[in-house]
Amino acid sequence: MQASDTSADSAETTINWAVDAPRGGRTVLNRILKENAAVPLFFAQTLISSLRDVGYNHTTSALCEHVDNAIEAGASEIRIFYRQLGKKGEYQIDAAVYDNGRGMEPNVLKVATSFGGSMNYNNRDGIGRFGMGMKTAALSMSPVMELYSWQDRGAIYSMILDVEAIGKDRSNAVNLPDPTLNTELRGELAELFIKPMGWPTDQKEQELFATDADELIERLGSHGTIVYMPACDRLSSRKARTLGEHAVSEMSRIYRRAISAGLRLYVNNRRVEAFDPTYSMASARHVRMLAPGVATTSRLVLSRPISIPITENEPNRTAEVIAKVFRLPIEEWSDLERKVQRNDLRIFDGLTVSILRNGREVFAGGLTKLTTQHSVTNWYRVQIEFPGVLDEAFGVASNKQGVRMKDYVLEKIREAIGSDITKLNDEIKRYQAEKASRIEPAKATASEQRANEVDHLQAKALDADLSDAEREQLDASLRGLAVTLRREEETDEQAFERVKSSKYLIDFKHDDYWPFYHVDHKFGRIILTINTAHAFFEQLYSPLRELARKAAPDELEDGPGAEPKRVDERPLIALELLLLSLARAQSVLAVRDDDAGRVFDRLRREWSEVYRINLAG
Ligand SMILES: Nc1ncnc2c1ncn2[C@@H]1O[C@H](COP(=O)(O)OP(=O)(O)OP(=O)(O)O)[C@@H](O)[C@H]1O
Ligand SMILES: [Mg+2]
Repeated sequence: MQASDTSADSAETTINWAVDAPRGGRTVLNRILKENAAVPLFFAQTLISSLRDVGYNHTTSALCEHVDNAIEAGASEIRIFYRQLGKKGEYQIDAAVYDNGRGMEPNVLKVATSFGGSMNYNNRDGIGRFGMGMKTAALSMSPVMELYSWQDRGAIYSMILDVEAIGKDRSNAVNLPDPTLNTELRGELAELFIKPMGWPTDQKEQELFATDADELIERLGSHGTIVYMPACDRLSSRKARTLGEHAVSEMSRIYRRAISAGLRLYVNNRRVEAFDPTYSMASARHVRMLAPGVATTSRLVLSRPISIPITENEPNRTAEVIAKVFRLPIEEWSDLERKVQRNDLRIFDGLTVSILRNGREVFAGGLTKLTTQHSVTNWYRVQIEFPGVLDEAFGVASNKQGVRMKDYVLEKIREAIGSDITKLNDEIKRYQAEKASRIEPAKATASEQRANEVDHLQAKALDADLSDAEREQLDASLRGLAVTLRREEETDEQAFERVKSSKYLIDFKHDDYWPFYHVDHKFGRIILTINTAHAFFEQLYSPLRELARKAAPDELEDGPGAEPKRVDERPLIALELLLLSLARAQSVLAVRDDDAGRVFDRLRREWSEVYRINLAG
């Protein structure tokens, strides 16, 4: 077989198609090669099969194409169905999307069924613009797309795209037939609307569309559309439950604007509530999860218009993007139960940045290129809204999954909001450090107690014994000291009692320019101050403290039989004792030798700085 041999007779042998390739397509190709006939721009028989592979990264993203179309058609009700039939291991899943939008007249329906057929081609004001979504999405799930649409009661027009049937077609250019007129939905399709689905298992959660065939016709009303994908063979999961749950969790977020504006969206007859990852919408799901009195929405930190060039080389032709930054109500939400934070509010899902195109979310997740790497990304959110004219700049692909922002766009946005995010991040970090350093009032910590108890065993005494008169004077000084060391929720008197009864005292301070610890030796007391702004606090002290504090109850949530995490205070106590011992040793030596004191101080600063750099790496 020679590549250069193009004679008609050898044509058949040079076709290397697989045995299961579309037969009609092969016939057409042969005919064209033999007869030197006109070549259609698209080989329908093969192309339709290839288009099944336009990548959707999840079945939910494919279904979103239909929801997009429905919203664009002005629907106020959209229903998604995943029907699971058959036995375990060989489930059949039928999927459908219904909407009560304006529907299509027969000619439009026909055009809409063709690839590239669109009533919105390249119109950037809405959602659809490629004329591909409905078809590629449907076929990415099932080899058959059935499309029903009506603009009159009881006059339902339908079209079918059947990959296998088209593959068998022997005509050079495949044309679509006229739509079929039906007076009702055929049995298996009608059942979707009047029978409860297997999932959600609690049927009380399901709000059926209609109870019988008569009511169904009534309820379908004078306009609407259904895309039906029977016997899906390519799905992210073979279980209606998994597919349904994923659809709910994604769509509640992607379409939050539309839902809060009144769209009734259902998945298997269960209404979907809006979920807002920025927590700025007062009507979103999370609000219901919070006890009365707890702050329900995040705080808007900034809202800023940013001009972005439509193409990089025409800096003067711009369109406006709106960037907003929100700060979660950390003061109130960080005290909520872990379970509420995680499962109900979903604070830790990593959805720091949400990008919306014409009000529809196209991306949610971490985007460190924009926010730069920060440690507390869970407690703030960035929302970016852009208009359709910026599709190329934001890198929106034809299947509208995600964005691939051009570098100049990222740069522009970062320039506009980057420093505010850094500032906010520092503020949140500071709040967290302060909170983490809060100590129980009126009580010595375990390490303070321990050091105090064994102090008399130390070889060198800390201070000389005092006379009664001196003791009284000391009390007055300790009262003064107690005021400066008073902990949150402690009275002056409690602070005084605490300071008086312990020779060892731990305190905290937040100062970016300070070493990681500081020692004072005053009034017979060793005062160790830990700097919450140094990386030592965040990376060593605080984690040990968390470990010591971890209360057992909410760790039990993983169900019966789960081992409760053991509360272990020992590492924290040992670390505090390490520093208290150092503090004592330095103090004892410095009292006897001024030069030693200065050396210790220099060492402490030097050590802190080296340590800071090491930890930052
Ligand atoms: N649910 C619907 N109700 C009314 N018309 C619809 C519906 N779904 C699709 N259409 C019509 O069918 C056309 C083709 O839809 P399709 O999703 O394939 O392409 P598109 O939405 O125009 O562009 P994109 O490829 O970006 O989705 C649409 O332009 C619209 O006119
Ligand atoms: Mg579309």
